[in-house]
Amino acid sequence: GASALWLSQERQKASHCGFFSPSKGNFKVCVCGGSGGIGQPLSLLMALDDNVGELSVYDLNIAMVPPAGVAADLGHLESKVQVRGYAKGLEEKAVDALGDCLQGCDLVLVPAGMPRKPGQTRDDLFKINANIAKEVVEACAKYCPNAVVALIVNPVNSVVPAMAELYKKKGLDPKKIVGVTTLDGVRANKFVAEIAKEHPNNVNVPVIGGHAGVTILPLFSQDKHAAKIPQAEIPALDKHVQDAGTDVVNAKNGKGSATLSMAYAGARLGKAVLAGLAGTPTTECAYVASDVEKDFPYFTSKVTFGKTGVEKVHGIGSLSPYEAKRLEEAKAALKKEIQSGLDYAAANS
Ligand code: NAD
Ligand code: LMR
Repeated sequence: GASALWLSQERQKASHCGFFSPSKGNFKVCVCGGSGGIGQPLSLLMALDDNVGELSVYDLNIAMVPPAGVAADLGHLESKVQVRGYAKGLEEKAVDALGDCLQGCDLVLVPAGMPRKPGQTRDDLFKINANIAKEVVEACAKYCPNAVVALIVNPVNSVVPAMAELYKKKGLDPKKIVGVTTLDGVRANKFVAEIAKEHPNNVNVPVIGGHAGVTILPLFSQDKHAAKIPQAEIPALDKHVQDAGTDVVNAKNGKGSATLSMAYAGARLGKAVLAGLAGTPTTECAYVASDVEKDFPYFTSKVTFGKTGVEKVHGIGSLSPYEAKRLEEAKAALKKEIQSGLDYAAANS
C-alpha cells in the first residue's frame, strides 16, 4: 500500500542521487577502443547499465578524442558509474595504463581495430586487427584473467579462434573469449519485424555460424513471426542479413562501418553478460569455443551467460531444408576462417 509506494519513491530518489541499488551488480567494465566510432556510444550505453559500477575507457593517445575526454564527458551522466579514461602512450607507460584500466575488470568489450572500407572484406583486416587484439588480450590475460573478453574487432571469425588459442596456451579458459555477433540477430529481427508488421522486441531470430558473408546463417524457421514468411522470400531475406554490414560500409562511403547499431548490439551482449554474472542467466547468440558442430571448434549458437561467463553453449536446433543446405555452405567458408585464426595463434604465441 502507501508504505510500499513510499519505499519505491525513496529508492527511485536514491538511485537518482547516485546510490547503489542493492539488487544490482557493481561490475567493472572496460571498453578498449573506447574513443572510436563504436567505442564512444558503446561506453555511453554501458555507463547507463545499473550493473556497472566502474567503466574504463581505453584508447590510443592519438585517438580522435582522448579517452580522458570521453571519460570526463560520461562522468556527468546521472548514473552511479565512475568513469576513468586511459591512454596508450609511450611503450612503458602503456603497460601501466593498461594495468590500472583492466585490473579487477569483469567484462572487457573490444571494438579496438580498423573498420572496412568499400571493396574490402572483413578478412582483409585480419593481419592488422589480430595484432591489435593480441595486445589487448595478452593484457587481459595478465591483469583480469577471469574477465569475459568480448571481441567486436573484425574479422570475428578468425580473431576469436586466434585469441582463444592464445588463452589456452596460457592455461586460461578459452571460453572467456567471446565473439560478438549480436548485430546479425538485431538486423534479422528488424528486417522480419518490418515484414511481419511487428515490434522488433517480439521477434527473436537466432543467427548461427559466424560473422562474415555466407557464414552468417539466420534461422528464420525458429522464430514464430519469421516462420510465417513464405519460403520463396527467404533467400533474399537471408542475403539482406548477410549483406547488411556491407550495405552500411557502402552507405558510409569510405568513412567507416556500422558504429551506432553495433554499439547497441554490443551493449545488448554486454548487458547479458553482466546480468549473468549478477545471477540472472541470460541467453544471446555468440561465437565461442564450441562442440555443438562436429569439427568446428568455434561456432556461433545460442549461449547462456551465467555467474562465470559462458555457462552453456546450446545446440542449433531443428532447421528447415533451406537452412540445412545453407549450413553446409556456411561451414565450408567458416572452416577456412577458423584455420586462419589457428595458424595465427601457432605463429604468434
Ligand atoms: P574506429 O576506427 O572508429 O575505432 C577504433 C578505435 O580503436 C580507434 O579509436 C582507435 O584509436 C582504437 N585503437 C586502435 N588500436 C588500438 C589499440 N592497440 N589499443 C586500443 N585502442 C586501439 O572503428 P570502429 O568503427 O569503432 O570499428 C572497430 C572495429 O569493430 C573494426 O574492426 C570493425 O570492423 C569492427 N566491427 C565489428 C562488428 C561486429 O558485428 N562484430 C560491427 C561493426 C564493426
Ligand atoms: C558489420 O557487420 O556491420 C561489421 O562486421 C562491420 C563490417 O565490416 O561490415
